Amino acid sequence: MNANKALWEKGDFTRIAESMRESGEALVKKLGITDGLQVLDLGCGDGTTAVPEAQLGADVLGVDIASNLVAAGNARAEALGLTNLRFQEGDATDLNELGDEQFDLVVSIFGAMFAPKPFDVAKEMVRVTKPGGRIVMGNWIPNDPTLVAQILKISSAYSPPPPDGFVSPMTWGVEDDVIERFTKAGVPKEGISFQRDTYTFDYPGPPSELVAEFRSYYGPTMNAFEAAATNGREGDLQAELDTLFNEQNTSDDATSIPATFLRVTVKR
Ligand SMILES: C[S@@+](CC[C@H](N)C(=O)[O-])C[C@H]1O[C@@H](n2cnc3c(N)ncnc32)[C@H](O)[C@@H]1O
Repeated sequence: MNANKALWEKGDFTRIAESMRESGEALVKKLGITDGLQVLDLGCGDGTTAVPEAQLGADVLGVDIASNLVAAGNARAEALGLTNLRFQEGDATDLNELGDEQFDLVVSIFGAMFAPKPFDVAKEMVRVTKPGGRIVMGNWIPNDPTLVAQILKISSAYSPPPPDGFVSPMTWGVEDDVIERFTKAGVPKEGISFQRDTYTFDYPGPPSELVAEFRSYYGPTMNAFEAAATNGREGDLQAELDTLFNEQNTSDDATSIPATFLRVTVKR
C-alpha cells in the first residue's frame, strides 16, 4: 500500500476543507483566470480551488491521490453543474496519465507539497505545463508561528521519527529548496518568484470544535493522536492543540484563524 495515499484516504479532508473555502476563492481570484484556460489543480482535494477556477471559466482537471476526495470533488462539480471541471486519481510524483505541455496553469495549494520525492514532483509539474504557462504553489512554511506549521510541529513531537530518507513536506516552504527543485527541472531561477500570503480557517463553532475536526478527520493529526495513545499522551496533545487554536483565534463568537504560507509562482 502507498503510505502517502493511505494517509490522505484515512480521514475525510472535506471536513477541514469546509473551513478553507473563502480563502481558496480569494486566492483563485488573484490568478488571472480567463475563459477556456487549461488548468490542472494538483493535490486538489475536493476542489477548494478547483471549483472557483472552473466558476471563472477555466477548463479544470483536478488530480488527487485520494480516491475519496476525487469522488467528493466530482460530486461537488455535478451538484454545481460545472461541466468544465472533473477530478481523477493521480500521483504528483508520476503523472504518467497526463501528456507533456497540456496546461496553461498548474495550481497546487497545500497539495503537491505533501507528495514524496519533491524533485520528481517539480519535474512533473514543469513537464505538463505549456511553454509560457505558469505553476502556482501554496506551501506551508517550516517553523512559521501560525497555525498549520505549529500543528505539524506539535504533532511531530508525539510521533515516531520519520523513516530514513524522508523529506519533510515543509521543505516546500523554504525558498532555496524550491529554487533547487525547479531549476533542476529546467526552469531558470529568474522565472521563480515568492510571496507571503494568508489563508484563514473559518469555522462556525469554537476553536475546540475545530481541533476535534482535525483529530477525527485530518490524516496527519489522526496519526499523531494514534502515536500519542501508545504512551498515554493523547490528553497532552489535545491540550497543546486546544491552546494553539485558542491563542490564534481572532473571532469572539466562532473560529477564524489566519495562517501564513509561501506562494510560489514559476514561469515555464
Ligand atoms: C492539505 S490537502 C489540500 C487539498 C486542496 N488542495 C485544498 O486546498 O483543499 C492535501 C491534498 O494533497 C493530496 N495529495 C497528497 N499526496 C499527493 C500525491 N502524491 N499526489 C496527488 N495528491 C496528493 C491529498 O490527498 C490531499 O487532498
